[in-house]
Amino acid sequence: MQTDVLKLDPEHPQPESIAQAAALLRAGEVVAFPTETVYGLGAIATNADAVARIFAAKGRPSTDPLIVHIADIEQIEAVTGDPWFTYAPAIRHLGETYWPGPLTLVLPRGRAIPPGVTAGLATVGVRMPRHPVALALIAATGAPIAAPSANTFGHTSPTTAQHVLDDLGGRIPLILDGGPCPVGIESTILDVTGDDPVLLRPGGIPVEDLELVLGVAIRRLPPRAIAAGLPAAAPGMLLSHYAPRAPLVVFEGRQPEAVWERVVADIQRRAAIGAQVGALAPVERAAELRAAGAAVVVELGPAADLAAAARTLFAGLRALDDAGVSVIIVASFPGEGLALALRDRLRRAAGGQIEKV
Ligand code: TXA
Ligand code: MG
Repeated sequence: MQTDVLKLDPEHPQPESIAQAAALLRAGEVVAFPTETVYGLGAIATNADAVARIFAAKGRPSTDPLIVHIADIEQIEAVTGDPWFTYAPAIRHLGETYWPGPLTLVLPRGRAIPPGVTAGLATVGVRMPRHPVALALIAATGAPIAAPSANTFGHTSPTTAQHVLDDLGGRIPLILDGGPCPVGIESTILDVTGDDPVLLRPGGIPVEDLELVLGVAIRRLPPRAIAAGLPAAAPGMLLSHYAPRAPLVVFEGRQPEAVWERVVADIQRRAAIGAQVGALAPVERAAELRAAGAAVVVELGPAADLAAAARTLFAGLRALDDAGVSVIIVASFPGEGLALALRDRLRRAAGGQIEKV
């Protein structure tokens, strides 16, 4: 299959290109498109055959549920069966504060959504993305769009059209190219089906922000419970995910200076035995790591700018793979806010191989 790539103006997407993509979706095909978090691989969520093509193209196990995307808050009824005004005030407050944006709410699934979309679960993740291309595509299609990240299963998430092409070229008919994704890591997933909200995946909106809006503490699933594979609570939250091709070694610790000392020593040791070491690091550390012997250092922006790190993390891992490094070294992100999501992605990308400092 030939994969076409259509370049779009990310702020004012060309209506002809959107119409072309919407026609493919309505014909039961899959289309890759940019969202503010990562690129998604979409199909009409009410079409079971089209959704099956998503799983086939990605090599994704059928046990891993998809998120359904809407363009308008009233469209939630098409996904859950319940009109928006019937939801609890706290849920409406979340949706009205953070949609469109990188928040996914897990809600009871409506009958119009085939069980295959949600791995048979009685719940469904819903999100209204804020990328103009995603919103225009959903609106033009006139249906909710099921979409996982547009990478091969288990690989690093795609934040450019080229990343999608590298993974899925020849397997899907069309990629809408809206440039690099402005957030760069996936949505925050909050399960609001129980009495208390539960954070299923940290992401683009810090959980502390959600707590401020809700006025209650949000339970975090402990990383170890997620790693052990809690059956229904956190499907798809595999320990090995987002992985680059080269082995990734993540250094974690509360004392930044001690962590950097270990990183430098590790790079020196590996370079001395001939390894092609790649590293991800804030700009302030890049020169030091090059001096230690790192062959390639991808800069994540200033250390204090976690949003910049989120924007560059996945692209950085892919760039190091492309550069052919034999190992990737990175110091994790201590603290709160976006750091929680960055730590989560690094731990999974490393398959749980964490060096504690
Ligand atoms: O930012 C994002 O959320 C991106 C863009 C494309 O919107 N999408 C994304 O989808 O990250 P994906 O398939 O890579 O991750 C979906 C994950 C599943 O692996 C699962 O952990 C969780 O969302 N999930 C989805 N539906 C769920 C449900 N009903 N219950 C619990 N977890 C669910
Ligand atoms: Mg994914």
